[in-house]
Amino acid sequence: MSQSSAESLLSPRSPAASALTMTMFMQPEHSNSLGNVHGGVILKLCDECGGIIASRHARRPAVTVTVDRVTFLQPVLLGRLLLVHGRITWVGRTSIEVELRVEAENLLTGERTHTNSAYFVYVALDADRRPTPVARLLLQDEAERRRFAEGEVRNQLRLAESGRNP
Ligand SMILES: CC(C)(COP(=O)(O)OP(=O)(O)OC[C@H]1O[C@@H](n2cnc3c(N)ncnc32)[C@H](O)[C@@H]1OP(=O)(O)O)[C@@H](O)C(=O)NCCC(=O)NCCS
Repeated sequence: MSQSSAESLLSPRSPAASALTMTMFMQPEHSNSLGNVHGGVILKLCDECGGIIASRHARRPAVTVTVDRVTFLQPVLLGRLLLVHGRITWVGRTSIEVELRVEAENLLTGERTHTNSAYFVYVALDADRRPTPVARLLLQDEAERRRFAEGEVRNQLRLAESGRNP
């Protein structure tokens, strides 16, 4: 890779530049044994959405390194449209934290229910599949600066919990 393309990979980018909403209609094949949507289906869609966002920011392949606690607040019924909204909240040197918010939409009424939220963390990899630096996050307003500061605290906690020195 030339020096100039490496530099453009590292040019700061806003959370909006990579933010994404993915949708999937919940069909019978997404069911668990109780006839609701299987939690694994929701987590897979979250991970896909977060991974795309991380790769979009880094312009590199990105792998999931950790997932914060996920609580399912409501069952998701078959026939609902699942919406996963993702945006980057924090980046480190090679790691990227993505906030994912999941909603289920009743197509007949338009009502949307918040079913769960989660933070997924990804690491960008170079051509040799080693962690590689990512672009800094261009923080454009107070809310983005607050979310970044909160992400920094979560990162410190994760590193401490995993036995790595923050
Ligand atoms: C992700 C992976 C490449 C990191 O390797 P590593 O040897 O720990 O690399 P490093 O020590 O250089 O750490 C890379 C980044 O990951 C972060 N990291 C590593 N473990 C972490 C954890 N448990 N929690 C949070 N961040 C973590 C480090 O803090 C560092 O971030 P920074 O550069 O922003 O400071 C490696 O663990 C891996 O390949 N894991 C499997 C990924 C995978 O296959 N995921 C698919 C789901 S199974």
